[in-house]
Amino acid sequence: MRAVRIHEHGDESVLRTEEVDRPTPAPDEVVLAVHTAAVNPFDTYIREGIVPPEDGGLPHVLGGDAAGEIAAVGDDVVAFEPGDRAFVTGLGLDGPGTYAEYVAVPDHRVAHLPAAVPFEAGAAAAETVTTSLMALDRGGVDAGDVVLVQGAAGGVGHAAVQVAAHEGAFVVGTSSPGSMDGVRDLGVDAVVDYATEDLAAAVLDATGGRPVDVVVETHAAANVAADVGTLATGGTIAVLGEDDDITLAGPTAGLAKGKRATLAFASHMRSTEHHGEALAAAARLLRRNAVEVTVDATFPLEEAGAAQRHCLSSGGFGKTLLDVSGEGSA
Ligand SMILES: NC(=O)c1ccc[n+]([C@@H]2O[C@H](COP(=O)([O-])OP(=O)(O)OC[C@H]3O[C@@H](n4cnc5c(N)ncnc54)[C@H](OP(=O)(O)O)[C@@H]3O)[C@@H](O)[C@H]2O)c1
Repeated sequence: MRAVRIHEHGDESVLRTEEVDRPTPAPDEVVLAVHTAAVNPFDTYIREGIVPPEDGGLPHVLGGDAAGEIAAVGDDVVAFEPGDRAFVTGLGLDGPGTYAEYVAVPDHRVAHLPAAVPFEAGAAAAETVTTSLMALDRGGVDAGDVVLVQGAAGGVGHAAVQVAAHEGAFVVGTSSPGSMDGVRDLGVDAVVDYATEDLAAAVLDATGGRPVDVVVETHAAANVAADVGTLATGGTIAVLGEDDDITLAGPTAGLAKGKRATLAFASHMRSTEHHGEALAAAARLLRRNAVEVTVDATFPLEEAGAAQRHCLSSGGFGKTLLDVSGEGSA
C-alpha cells in the first residue's frame, strides 16, 4: 500500500510517499481502508520532532484522522465488520498514522460513520469536533453561558463555535478580518478581530455587558492575558494550543487570581481512551446537521507536504484534507 512516512525529522522535504506492507489486525483491532485523511497542525509537530512518535521509531507514518471503510477485523472485534463506514482520530503518535491507504486501529478508538455523512466530512470532523467537545467539557459549558472561541476560522475553532452554539451558549468567535464573514455564517453571535480589537471591550459590547464563562483558546501564548480581561469570576480558559510559553505578567496574574480563573489544559492526542465515545458523539451531531465542518482544501496523498504547508498558513478557513483513495467525494 502507499503511505507517507518520515525517516528523519525536519521540514516538509522529509515526507516520502512509499510502498509499505498493508497492516493486518490484532485481535482487538480493525483495519480501515482510508478514503480521506485530515491534516492537523499536530502532524507537523511529529514531523519536526517537537513531539516525536511515542515508540521513538522511524520510519513513521504520519496522520491523526481518517474516514473510510472497514477492510478487516480482528478475532475479538464484535462492533464492526468489513464494509462498515467508519472514522478514526488521534492516531499517528502512539502508532502508525492515517496518511496511508490502510491503518490498523484498536476497536475502542473507532466509530461508525453515518451513511448520510460523506467520508470528507467524517475525516474533517474527527479531530475538530471531538476536540471541541473535550474543550467545552473541560470548561464545564452550560446552556446560556458566554463562550469565546479564539481562532474561530481554524479547523478546531470553526467546529467549536458550532458545537458551543448547539449546546445553547452565547458564542463570540475571533478571526482575522478576511474570515469574519465566514465565521458569522457559522451562526456565532459576534465576531472580533483577534489582532486589532480591544478584546474585553468588544466582547462586553457584543454580550450586552456579560463577561465570558469559558474561553476555548487555540493560541494561548498570544492571547491568555487578553482572555483574562474578558473572564467572569470563576471563568475557565480551556487551553488547546499555545505556540510558545504561556506567561501571565504581575497585574494580569493578579486579575486572574481575583477572578479565581482556571487555566484548564486538554490534550486530544493523549485522551485516546475516550476517542470511540467522542467520535460516536460527533457522528450524532453530524447526522443531525448540528455541526458542518468546512473543507478548506483537498490535496492528493502524494502532496502531503503542500497540504501541511497549507494547513499552517494564515487566511484559510476550515480543514485541510488528503484524498487518499483518489476516488474524490463519497
Ligand atoms: N490540545 C489539543 O488537544 C488540540 C487539539 C487540536 C488542535 N490543537 C491546537 O490548536 C491550534 C489550532 O489548531 P487548528 O487545527 O484549528 O489549526 P488551524 O486550522 O491552522 O487554525 C488556526 C487558526 O488560528 C487563527 N489564529 C492565528 N493566530 C491567532 C491568534 N493570535 N489568536 C486567535 N486566532 C489566531 C488562524 O487565523 P488566520 O488564518 O486568520 O490567521 C487560523 O484560523 C494548534 O496549535 C493545534 O496544535 C490542540
